[in-house]
Amino acid sequence: MAGLFPKWMNALPTLGALVGGPAVVVVVAGGWYWLTPDYFEVGYQPVQPGGGYNHQLHAGELGIDCRYCHTHVEESDHANIPSVATCMGCHTEGKLRASVSGGPGGDRHNRMVSFIRDAYAQDESIEWSKIHLVPDYAHFPHHVHVNAGVSCYSCHGQIAGMPVVYQAEGLGMGWCLDCHRNPEERLVPPDKVTDLVWVEHNWFDKPTSEREHNGVTPEDLVASLRRDPPQNCGACHY
Ligand code: HEC
Ligand code: HEC
Ligand code: HEC
Ligand code: HEC
Ligand code: HEC
Repeated sequence: MAGLFPKWMNALPTLGALVGGPAVVVVVAGGWYWLTPDYFEVGYQPVQPGGGYNHQLHAGELGIDCRYCHTHVEESDHANIPSVATCMGCHTEGKLRASVSGGPGGDRHNRMVSFIRDAYAQDESIEWSKIHLVPDYAHFPHHVHVNAGVSCYSCHGQIAGMPVVYQAEGLGMGWCLDCHRNPEERLVPPDKVTDLVWVEHNWFDKPTSEREHNGVTPEDLVASLRRDPPQNCGACHY
């Protein structure tokens, strides 16, 4: 697990290139913040119930696929946040056998998951704070991007290495257009869209002989885009 962060930081020069100008990097409490106008919400990390939902543990260490919880991400504009029932599929008392942190039935674990069991028993939902937000006047469809082979990583960063999720990218209009003008090298094979570690091995930089993945090359993916990503105002504002 410790290996994830250093690897993730290798991506920083790439991110710097995307800003398209000189950017200042400041280390704040172990996190990185990009101080350019478009990036003012980068690093946003609201306080969450239960101290935050641990993606590093669930999606990273345990390897649970993103779509196990974010079930709508391939079908609709919005990805969904899972209900308490999804958590209870594993966190019902006595259910977990495998232990990551020494004893799933142990006191520490029971204390940490009590807010889930309480919410479920009282038929309440857990009020997670929203992190990523595009204003209502702009339209962002998740499914189109995910189905085209844009990895979650491109827009959300190394989620599988985050003990608590924060906003990794600016999500401003300039940021959307940066990719829309030049999407080619941002695509990954369809079966790797939710594999956030794979994405770091830079498919496009491989020699041609090593580029095929399950019969797909980057060039095939580019050819399979339904059309060029839109740059006309009406595609995102209507
Ligand atoms: C076992 C369930 C589960 C899995 C697996 C999971 N997530 Fe999540 N995810 C959640 C929950 C619960 C939240 C809400 C709490 C939070 O924001 O931390 C969330 C929040 C998020 C958010 C922030 C939403 C916002 O408010 O802006 C993103 C982005 C996200 N997940 C991406 C991913 C990605 C990418 C993966 C796969 C690498 C993944 N998730 C795997 C349960 C899961
Ligand atoms: C597919 C099974 C699975 C699902 C679904 C799942 N978890 Fe977990 N969760 C685990 C396992 C395994 C552990 C590690 C247990 C241990 O510590 O040994 C864990 C640990 C935790 C912990 C203790 C955290 C820590 O750092 O030790 C919390 C809190 C937690 N999960 C919250 C949630 C929430 C909230 C959801 C629903 C959004 C959820 N889990 C869904 C399997 C799951
Ligand atoms: C092209 C960029 C992009 C990609 C790729 C992407 N997301 Fe998002 N995601 C966003 C943006 C932008 C928002 C804020 C959307 C809004 O406010 O309507 C968001 C919001 C979310 C949310 C909060 C719920 C919502 O829909 O607002 C979750 C959960 C999420 N993304 C999960 C994922 C997962 C899982 C993947 C990969 C399977 C993924 N995203 C791929 C850009 C992206
Ligand atoms: C990392 C690359 C990337 C980023 C970032 C990105 N997009 Fe896209 N977007 C694409 C690609 C690739 C397509 C074309 C998909 C296709 O034609 O199959 C697309 C298509 C679209 C479409 C057309 C949908 C349709 O039905 O044809 C809209 C609208 C859109 N994007 C909005 C946004 C907005 C808004 C943002 C920023 C919040 C954004 N995108 C950020 C890569 C990206
Ligand atoms: C790929 C999607 C996309 C396209 C194409 C696009 N926009 Fe935007 N636009 C956004 C997003 C996302 C925001 C909200 C984030 C922000 O404020 O940067 C936004 C914000 C804006 C704002 C508010 C800016 C501000 O600073 O508050 C205006 C005005 C605007 N767009 C005009 C346009 C015009 C005019 C065009 C055509 C030349 C256009 N947009 C094309 C996605 C897009």
